[in-house]
Amino acid sequence: MRNSTICFGSFFLSTILLIVSADESFQKCLENEALPSQPISQVIYIPQNNISAFSSVLQNYVKNLRFNESTTRKPELIITALHVSHIQAAVICSKKHGLQMKIRSGGHDYEGISYVSTGPFFILDMFNLRAINVSIEDETAWVQTGAILGEVYYRIAEKSNVHGFPAGVCPTVGVGGHISGGGYGNMLRKFGLTIDNILDAEIIDAKGRLLDRKSMGEDLFWAISGGGGASFGVVLSYKIKLVRVPEIVTVFRVGRTYEQNATDLAYKWQRIADKLDDDLFIRMIFDVINNTQTGDRTNRVQFLALFLGDSDRLLSIMNQSFPELGLQRSDCIETSWLQSVLYFTNIPLGTEPEILLRRGTQGVTYLKRKSDYLEEPMSKEGLEFIFKKMIELVRPSMVFNPYGGKMAEIPSHAKPFPHRAGNIAKIQYAANWNEAGTEFANFYLNLTNQLFDYMTPYVSKNPREAFLNYRDLDIGINQNESPERSFIEGAVYGVKYFKENYPRLVKIKTKVDPHNLFRNEQSIPVFPFGK
Ligand SMILES: Cc1cc2nc3c(=O)[nH]c(=O)nc-3n(C[C@H](O)[C@H](O)[C@H](O)COP(=O)(O)OP(=O)(O)OC[C@H]3O[C@@H](n4cnc5c(N)ncnc54)[C@H](O)[C@@H]3O)c2cc1C
Ligand SMILES: *[C@@H]1O[C@H](CO)[C@@H](O)[C@H](O)[C@H]1NC(C)=O
Ligand SMILES: *[C@@H]1O[C@H](CO)[C@@H](O)[C@H](O)[C@H]1NC(C)=O
Ligand SMILES: *[C@@H]1O[C@H](CO)[C@@H](O)[C@H](O)[C@H]1NC(C)=O
Ligand SMILES: *[C@@H]1O[C@H](CO)[C@@H](O)[C@H](O)[C@H]1NC(C)=O
Ligand SMILES: *[C@@H]1O[C@H](CO)[C@@H](O)[C@H](O)[C@H]1NC(C)=O
Ligand SMILES: *[C@@H]1O[C@H](CO)[C@@H](O)[C@H](O)[C@H]1NC(C)=O
Ligand SMILES: *[C@@H]1O[C@H](CO)[C@@H](O)[C@H](O)[C@H]1NC(C)=O
Repeated sequence: MRNSTICFGSFFLSTILLIVSADESFQKCLENEALPSQPISQVIYIPQNNISAFSSVLQNYVKNLRFNESTTRKPELIITALHVSHIQAAVICSKKHGLQMKIRSGGHDYEGISYVSTGPFFILDMFNLRAINVSIEDETAWVQTGAILGEVYYRIAEKSNVHGFPAGVCPTVGVGGHISGGGYGNMLRKFGLTIDNILDAEIIDAKGRLLDRKSMGEDLFWAISGGGGASFGVVLSYKIKLVRVPEIVTVFRVGRTYEQNATDLAYKWQRIADKLDDDLFIRMIFDVINNTQTGDRTNRVQFLALFLGDSDRLLSIMNQSFPELGLQRSDCIETSWLQSVLYFTNIPLGTEPEILLRRGTQGVTYLKRKSDYLEEPMSKEGLEFIFKKMIELVRPSMVFNPYGGKMAEIPSHAKPFPHRAGNIAKIQYAANWNEAGTEFANFYLNLTNQLFDYMTPYVSKNPREAFLNYRDLDIGINQNESPERSFIEGAVYGVKYFKENYPRLVKIKTKVDPHNLFRNEQSIPVFPFGK
C-alpha cells in the first residue's frame, strides 16, 4: 500500500519533471536552435512563468465556452508570432521535439480544435499577423491570416464604396481558418465561395520554407483553398480578389409563425431560393418562440435577405417569384454594403463601422453546430413533422443557406469543397446556451443530435455530406494522431467533407507532409504506400 503510494508519487513527480524539461528544451530550441532572425522570447507564453499572462492570451480567442472549462486540456506554451521567422522556428521545433502544433487565427473553430487537443501540444497564435493591404486599382488585397473578416470588410470599404468581398457574415471569424476551410457568405449565389475568389497565398511548409503560389505549386494551392490549412502548413496570407458591389444594397428580415402559414412559405422557399436572380440571397431560419397571444410555443420561419440592388427591383423579383411572402416596401431597407454586414450579424444599422474592428470575447457562449445538405425539397408533411419535433426540443434552430447561381456553375473538383450543383441549400443546426458544466452540455448536444436524426430522411445520403467549416467531431473523430493514421480512418470525415476530392487531398498531403507534422482530430492523413 505504502509502496504503491510512493511509487505513484514518484511516477507523478517524474512526469511533472519531464513536462517541465520538455517545455524548457522546447523553449531553448525556439530561442537558440531554430535561430529566428527576430528575437522570439517576448512572444512565448508558458504557464510556469506567468499563469495570468498565459491564461489571458489563451482565453482571448476561445470562442466556444465548452472549451473554456478548468478540465479542458491546456497547451504547454503559446507562441504569438510577430514575424515569419517565429513561425519557422515553431515548425522546426515542433518537428524536432514531436510536440503537436495547433494553429489558431480567429479561434472560431466550432469544436475548438485550434486551441484544444487530446495530447501535449502548443499553440501557434496568428493574431499579431493581421496586415491588410488593399489595392483598388488591381481590385485585390493581401490579407494576413490573423486578420478577422470585419477588418477585411472595413479596410476595403475605407477605400471604396463599390467593392466588397464574398466571405462569412460574422465579423470576428478569422481569415486563416475561414478561407482555408472553404468560407461562404451572403454573396455566394453571385460570386461563389471565398475560395473561388483567391489569387495567391503564402505558406510555411513542413520544412519551414516560405512559399507562394508559384513556389508551392498548383496542387498545394488547391489544397489550402478549402481543404483545411491545418493539414498542410501554416498559411501566412492570402491574396484575395475584390468584387464589385452596388453603392446601395437592400436587406430585409421578415418572420412568420406557424399560424401565419410558415409551412407553406418554407415549402415554397425550397422551390425558388436556389433559382432566383443571383443578386438575391434569402436565408431561411427555423426556430421556436412563444406565441405572444396564447403564450404557447410556436414555430417561426424567418427570411433574412441581402439583395445587390435597390428595393424597386427587389420588390418586382419578389412579387414574381415569392408573392406568398407578401414582402412590403416598408420591410426593405436600402443601405451600403458595409452596413449590410452589420445588419446580417444583428448589429443595429447606423452603428459606427469601427465595431467591425473589435476582437473581444463579448457574447461568447457555449455552442454546438452540425451541417447537412438539402438536395430535394422537403414535403409539407416532412416540414410539419420537423416543426412538431422542434416544438418538443425547443432550443436547436436551423439555418438554410440557399445555393444555386454561381455555386452551381463551378465544377465540384475545382476546389476541395465539393458541394456545388444539385444542392438547394446547406443546413446548419445550431444550439447556444449559457449554463456551465458537462450536464448542460450533454443535454443540449443531445437535443441537437435528436433534431439531426429526425432530419435524416430529408437530406443528402451516401455520404451524408457535411461542411468542413462547420466542424463537427461527431462525424468521425480520429483518435489515432500518429503518422500511421490510415486513409480509411480519415475517410470517415474526409468523404463527408470532400467527397471525391478526398483522395487528391491525401495524395497532396502525402507529398508535402509525409511525416504528418500538421495534424489534428480531423486532418487529412498520409497515404501509407505513398511514402
Ligand atoms: C459566430 C460564427 C459565425 C460563422 N459564420 C460563418 C460564415 O458565415 N461562413 C462560413 O463559411 N463559416 C462561418 N463560420 C465558421 C468559420 O468559418 C470556421 O469556424 C473557421 O474555420 C474559423 O476560422 P478561425 O480562423 O476563426 O478559426 P480557428 O479556430 O483559428 O481555426 C480553424 C481551423 O483552421 C486552422 N487554421 C487557422 N488558421 C490557420 C492558418 N493560418 N494556417 C493553417 N491553418 C489554420 C486551425 O488550426 C483550425 O483547424 C462561423 C463560425 C462562427 C463561430
Ligand atoms: C504577469 O502578466 C501580467 C499580465 O497578464 C502582468 O501584469 C504581470 O506583471 C506579470 N507578472 C510577472 C511576475 O511578470
Ligand atoms: C473563461 O474562463 C475564465 C476562467 O474561468 C474566465 O475568467 C473567462 O471570463 C472565461 N471566458 C469567457 C469568454 O467567458
Ligand atoms: C503590406 O504592405 C507593406 C508596405 O508596403 C508591406 O511591408 C507588407 O509586407 C504588406 N503586407 C502584406 C500582407 O502584403
Ligand atoms: C394562409 O394561406 C391561406 C390560403 O392558403 C390564406 O387564405 C391566408 O390568408 C393565409 N394566412 C396568412 C396569415 O397569410
Ligand atoms: C417562453 O415561455 C417560457 C415558459 O413560459 C419561458 O420560460 C421562456 O423564457 C419564454 N421564452 C421567451 C423567448 O420569451
Ligand atoms: C405584382 O404582380 C402583379 C401581377 O403579376 C401585378 O398586378 C402587381 O401590380 C404587382 N405588384 C407589385 C408591387 O409589383
Ligand atoms: C438523448 O438522450 C436520451 C436519454 O438519455 C437517449 O435515450 C437518446 O438516445 C439520446 N439521443 C441522442 C440522439 O443522442
